[in-house]
Amino acid sequence: LSTTEVDLTPIAEGQIVTTQWRGKPIFIFNRAPKDVEAARAVPLTQLLDPQRDQDRVKTGHDNWLVVIGICTHLGCVPLGHQGNYDGWFCPCHGSQYDSSGRVRVGPAPLNLAVPPYNFVSDSKIVIG
Ligand code: FES
Repeated sequence: LSTTEVDLTPIAEGQIVTTQWRGKPIFIFNRAPKDVEAARAVPLTQLLDPQRDQDRVKTGHDNWLVVIGICTHLGCVPLGHQGNYDGWFCPCHGSQYDSSGRVRVGPAPLNLAVPPYNFVSDSKIVIG
């Protein structure tokens, strides 16, 4: 299947769910307001791969973060709700990602990638 439909209804606030798209893990994070605020409060100059949180999510659905769950260093799958930035920790070489999936501690050079996706209703996305 080239697209994956995901019902967001069962994903509680603060929860990260992993699904699959084209054989890749996809993390879907229903961020709490504090997670969004924390991501938006970080000056871009502090980021290794500077990107605004607003540009990584869909307007009006700002709590939902959807990223490809593959570390941009050498491809391990990072662990959610770990590390020091309310996001992910990669067990392979210690990279850390924040609540926007942006790399905060290397060796990973880039943020977790955002796959193509769209909201088809308030509680449903289609990835791909
Ligand atoms: Fe994630 Fe190396 S693969 S830090």
